[in-house]
Amino acid sequence: MVSEITVRDLNTEEFIDQKIEEIRSAVGDGLAINALSGGVDSSVVTMIGHRALGDRLRTVFVENGLMREGEPEWVVDLFGKLGVKVELVDARKEFFSALEGITDPEEKREGITQTFYKGVFGRIVRESGAKHLLQGTILTDVDETVAGIKRQHNVFKQLGIDPQETFGYKIIEPLIQLRKDGVRKIGEALGLPEEIFNRIPFPGPALAARVIGTVTPERIDLVRKATTIVERLLKDTNAFQYMAILHEDRVTGMRDGNRDFGLQIEVRCWDSVDARTASPTRLPFDMLEKLADEIIRGVPGVVSVTYNIATKPPSTIEVV
Ligand code: XMP
Repeated sequence: MVSEITVRDLNTEEFIDQKIEEIRSAVGDGLAINALSGGVDSSVVTMIGHRALGDRLRTVFVENGLMREGEPEWVVDLFGKLGVKVELVDARKEFFSALEGITDPEEKREGITQTFYKGVFGRIVRESGAKHLLQGTILTDVDETVAGIKRQHNVFKQLGIDPQETFGYKIIEPLIQLRKDGVRKIGEALGLPEEIFNRIPFPGPALAARVIGTVTPERIDLVRKATTIVERLLKDTNAFQYMAILHEDRVTGMRDGNRDFGLQIEVRCWDSVDARTASPTRLPFDMLEKLADEIIRGVPGVVSVTYNIATKPPSTIEVV
């Protein structure tokens, strides 16, 4: 059992010092690797890891082909300015071939997990001689995985999986006792820019978590376009998280006077504190209209845009 540290009980300086010590003693004089996606959790782990290990931590950004518009360059550039060198690893082909033909949500998650940890990281770790992977698993990831609701891409020990045996390296998880609100506080204390520590959450499986049905480069491209629009229009809402989802079902529409059996995009925008429960943000109707209008004009083939009004539970934040 992991013991939770709530935001109320969190002393940021003490927490950071303690994690630095723990990482140093686990890694010894060896090398460690960490994957930076630019999300809050992995950004915080990257900064703590660099404070602990300096150049003995190799930070990579895995370009899995599932990230948002311009994200790889943005992350590499931003961390470069913070003094952290980030290597870009192109693994697009590997991820798309692992996802080919898969429609079941948990199978998608499993495909991504295997490609990430066994394929890409297995290889980097073997080549570098590192023995540890540092990653930003948080308590909410563990809870839902253990409860059997959703297999979060980064949870192993709690499922009885030994990463050392399965992947050939140990995993260090400095944030495992925290929830999102606690991680943001640590990010701020570490001196990360607000655009990082207050960034909306983004799941490990990335845009693949937002495509119902098969994940192909073309379908990812559609949801990526819709995501750019949704994130731009909703960035000042103060909502916990917002997203676009590409549905599998098509619906009858019309375009230029002809029938068009077109695509559907669902928009979700959540109010939440820690992602355990969430409710839809009461967006003004003219904002909803603007979303519909821009998505229909900006994403080829879309004839329907819907807004989710269900709470979590019984919904979950992501659709996959
Ligand atoms: P759900 O969809 O389970 O999401 O209500 C709760 C929060 O977790 C994020 N999420 C993930 N984060 N790996 C992650 O690192 C994952 O596999 C994953 N799945 C969901 C989700 O975006 C939300 O903030």
